[in-house]
Amino acid sequence: MRTLRSTPARPALLVRLLLRMYPAAWRERYGVEVASLLAASPPSARQAWDLARGALDARLHTDAVGVPAGLRLAMAGPPATPPRASGYGAVASTPIGELSRRTFMRRVVGAGAALLSLEFLAGTLAFLWPQIREGVGATLRLGTLADIRVAEPGFAGGVPYSFTPARIFLVNVPAAQAMARGETITVPEPSATELLALWRKCPHLGCQVPEPCDDVRRFQCRCHGSTFNIVGEKMKVGPASRGMDRFPVSIDTAGVVIVDTSQRIAGPPAGTAASITFDDGRPFEATCFPV
Ligand code: FES
Repeated sequence: MRTLRSTPARPALLVRLLLRMYPAAWRERYGVEVASLLAASPPSARQAWDLARGALDARLHTDAVGVPAGLRLAMAGPPATPPRASGYGAVASTPIGELSRRTFMRRVVGAGAALLSLEFLAGTLAFLWPQIREGVGATLRLGTLADIRVAEPGFAGGVPYSFTPARIFLVNVPAAQAMARGETITVPEPSATELLALWRKCPHLGCQVPEPCDDVRRFQCRCHGSTFNIVGEKMKVGPASRGMDRFPVSIDTAGVVIVDTSQRIAGPPAGTAASITFDDGRPFEATCFPV
């Protein structure tokens, strides 16, 4: 008489392949149970995907169970042995108030991503931030005095050097004062304290002040006629309330003249003939053109 014996169902090839992806210790602990469950009810595509992810997880995290939630529910009963503290197949058990390893890793990865984003943002801002290299607000290198003499051949004799990027006149003060008095001297290498950077923006309403005229060797704004002597002091004629504004000048160790247009110094207040520090020998009211 034949005896009917129940033979364990052999898992399908897909299930066997999926189970092979798990660590040996995991298969030893859960393999038979999961295989028999899947042999009775073949896995759906979603379960197969979950099993594959669980295998990856079990290999990456030694405390991960790696069994899809649906299958875990289907697995009967409590574990045969108490969960180990670590090792494949151990049930994750995190004391209250402490981080699980997975949570810790997630936070580390999150912090890394945040740091990368911050670096990217900082780099973008640094790239987009305006780099002032000309105009008011910049520190400008005009070149050596030799360069300036080439650009303005009359500079050593007192002709102001017009430096367009900063809208300034660089005045060689001793030579310019002599020129304004009608004298002729040459100062090819003035020191930094003998240089004056006058802003060409008229202190009245902002028109550009032209070069000094030949007649009286003074600056005179064409808009409303404000008149300034060769060192930018306000003379009698015109509505401006102060002399021409100026910027600090220095010469570095390489002999390059530097003008810092971020530090504007207001011109001296308009006064009387007696308050003018430089007398060019002409009447206080003398102008380039009548107003
Ligand atoms: S803007 Fe120069 S005098 Fe008015």
